[in-house]
Amino acid sequence: MSVQSVGVVGAGTMGAGIAQVAVTSDCTVQLLDADERIVDRAIKSIHQRLERMVEKGRLSRDAQEAAVADLLPSVRTIELADCDLVIEAIVEDLEIKKKVFTELQEHCRPECVFATNTSSLSISKLADSLRDPSRLVGMHFFNPAPLMPLVEIVAGEHSRPSAVELAFETAVSWGKTAVRAKDTPGFIVNRVARPYYLEALRIIGEGLADVATVDRVMCELGGFRLGPFQLMDLVGIDVNYAVSKSVYEQFGRPARLTPHEFQARLVEAGHLGKKTGQGFYDYSGDEPTVAFSSDVPPGTIPSECESAVRQFTEKAGVSAPPNEGYIFARILTGIFNEAHLALEQGTAVADDIDLAMQKGTNYPHGPIAWSQQIGAEPWRAAFGATRGSFEYDAASIAAVIR
Ligand code: NAI
Repeated sequence: MSVQSVGVVGAGTMGAGIAQVAVTSDCTVQLLDADERIVDRAIKSIHQRLERMVEKGRLSRDAQEAAVADLLPSVRTIELADCDLVIEAIVEDLEIKKKVFTELQEHCRPECVFATNTSSLSISKLADSLRDPSRLVGMHFFNPAPLMPLVEIVAGEHSRPSAVELAFETAVSWGKTAVRAKDTPGFIVNRVARPYYLEALRIIGEGLADVATVDRVMCELGGFRLGPFQLMDLVGIDVNYAVSKSVYEQFGRPARLTPHEFQARLVEAGHLGKKTGQGFYDYSGDEPTVAFSSDVPPGTIPSECESAVRQFTEKAGVSAPPNEGYIFARILTGIFNEAHLALEQGTAVADDIDLAMQKGTNYPHGPIAWSQQIGAEPWRAAFGATRGSFEYDAASIAAVIR
């Protein structure tokens, strides 16, 4: 089932990264974009990155030369006629993507598998545009594709098992960690990660801590590489907000996934994070300094949650003052809840949820295993006790804690 010839449609950030991964894994790649200048620019930047890999001793000169020869520019879909697999990575717009797939089906062989790198659109809805919807699957890479190990392989309602297997095996043969996910909003990572950001935003919105404290607590107690605000700044607050809104809307606006007004406020102000020089932090100096304060009066952590938080932190093996334990417990149990909901709803199996969160967003442990290590009873109690003033609808709570 090995893939030799790959088409990549869309030569932007993701398309160029995916093309680089494929071409350094002995595949021939036709890299296509609607704009010829973008294809040229992408090919040039891939060549430069390959050259740097040779300089750093990560790629042999022979392999680099072979990769350069195997990377071909395209502007016409017909040039993808002989591909075994075509991966689409164009603008995130259902109608434009549908148009590309309907055009592809006119030129590609019937056995060619189509994949989409969409982060938020339904694979099944996209497949509706095809005469044979079974040939389409999701192959969700993470940015930057050459460095991030995870690929979520998403089966739509109609995806045929052989197409899903081909996508899975291809990702593995390209050196990636592949996990299987069902076609549900946000798949695994973009869904289970929501509480990391949203609970952090609510904590500062309730005046319970500031940005720097939340980030420090999650790194020091939780072992996360970046705190939620640092991570939002890195990803881009606009991108993070768009994903929050999309997952929230597609799930039918459950209270727990409500995007936060601070996200909208920063996007409106054009403070999008590192890429604009300011977000929750200001990046103009040598070291980032906090640039966002919530302007709400300081709140008090309810004393009745102290014992649940203490029990939770003890089981998690961390010792911290009560206010820090609260932040840690509130954010982490939000993630546990979302991970268990995803499990309950059949989005993925437990091992794949855990692997996805570790490889797709650098979590120190998988949330399912972590919640099991702490024990259902302590995390159930801490989840219930730490929701703050925020109302949770009963259906938003995983069965494991009901
Ligand atoms: P981008 O804006 O960097 O690149 C999109 C490219 O598609 C542009 O070069 C554009 O000229 C081209 N394009 C647009 N319409 C086209 C058409 N009809 N035919 C051919 N080319 C066309 O976008 P980016 O960030 O690379 O995202 C692409 C896809 O990957 C989106 O679906 C996005 O949701 C998804 N994604 C993005 C991630 C990210 O962090 N940027 C991460 C994972 C998935």
